[in-house]
Amino acid sequence: MQALPGFRDFLPDQCAVRNYIFAHWREVTRRYGFVEWEGPPLEATELYKKKSGTEIVEQLFNFTDKGEREVALRPELTPTLARVVAEHEREFKKPLKWFSIGQFFRYEKQQRGRLREHFQLNCDIIGEKDLASDIELVALCIDILRAFGLTEKDLVIRISDREFWTDFFCDKKVPAQRWDDLLQAIDKSAREPREKTVEKLGDLADSVFATLKSGGKSTKLEHLIEGLRARGLADFVAIDVGIVRGLAYYTGIVFEVFDRAGKFRAIAGGGRYDNLIAQLSDGAVSLPALGFAMGDVVLGELINEIPRAHEEMGKAIANARKIDIYVVIAKEERRGDALAQIQQLRDRGYRIDYPLTPTKVARQFQAAEELGARVALLYGDEWPQVKIKNMGTGEQELVVKDEIISSIEAVAGTARNLGSAGC
Ligand code: HAM
Repeated sequence: MQALPGFRDFLPDQCAVRNYIFAHWREVTRRYGFVEWEGPPLEATELYKKKSGTEIVEQLFNFTDKGEREVALRPELTPTLARVVAEHEREFKKPLKWFSIGQFFRYEKQQRGRLREHFQLNCDIIGEKDLASDIELVALCIDILRAFGLTEKDLVIRISDREFWTDFFCDKKVPAQRWDDLLQAIDKSAREPREKTVEKLGDLADSVFATLKSGGKSTKLEHLIEGLRARGLADFVAIDVGIVRGLAYYTGIVFEVFDRAGKFRAIAGGGRYDNLIAQLSDGAVSLPALGFAMGDVVLGELINEIPRAHEEMGKAIANARKIDIYVVIAKEERRGDALAQIQQLRDRGYRIDYPLTPTKVARQFQAAEELGARVALLYGDEWPQVKIKNMGTGEQELVVKDEIISSIEAVAGTARNLGSAGC
């Protein structure tokens, strides 16, 4: 039997990549003062029908549960966040700066960069209207990507403003009921044949295409770019009014991250959704909000593509995998003494391995090397002394068993300095 189409098995190598990505996501997001939260993986289907937009509803993994409830595996986090915030917002000072890392499910046509499950980092700011929060959010998105060794030569954040288009529709006296469909058509215009978009846009087709070509102007977007320039991050962004985003709830600034070479699907996307919380809570709570999500699939592909980023990841993963100490049991009579010591050292935080069954000494040293141990401890004829070998320099010394810990610390540092916490 094999995994279902679009679902991945994470063998240790793939798990290491995933953990590397998660560690950077968490670390940089914490630098910006965001706190972690999580929602359930299964929700009422209704939650997505209310506001996610038709595309995501078509892609739902949904079913009727044993209690006859209509439920769906979550395709995204934003509706859950809006639901949770509406229920609990009184318990928190505003603005909320929340992040979450979790798995999401969309019944998509499987293709490069798009699977039926993926992991996302979601970062959202709730309760702040000022453009300063849009700038902070885009800066966070850029800094996360920079942490992977990616630069403005590798990436571009395409930024737009839905208000630019809603103002445009008002100008042209387009009734508000048509806006959602028109925005979806503009969103798809870069990926679909022109005739199909023309058909959807109808009488507006010529003026929309002319605006897409000329680029349009927006003071708000210019201010946003200035804010990023002050942080030295402006080279990562480009105004592109063609970015509208597929999800129905966005109301203002929207953005998507792409590789410069244009080879991959979007790496991340987000924007402002000032009405969603009010809509989902039937007006009970109204708070402005904005956020973005970054997926692990395209990010992983891009890291593999950029040699600098790939090398950094390789080094970090190799380091994170290393053990600290290998215990060589040269005489089986000493196994009990060795295990007593292993227990003590593990309690102190050292990463330790040893042979589970009698094994030739040469093979044990080979294992010590393969596992990246800095220190080998040898339990043999020298007992009650133990041989400590510095695996880096090859130097060896004999120490009495009660002094093992201080000798190990002298050779390899305290457990806290060893390994690579968080990876
Ligand atoms: P989204 O653009 O639908 O936004 O997804 C965000 C990212 O998730 C995409 O850029 C992509 O990297 C990844 N992704 C989405 N679908 C798939 C898939 N089938 N396979 C692999 N990766 C995928 C949202 O989900 C919004 N809720 C983001 C947001 C948060 N807006 C405000 N706050």
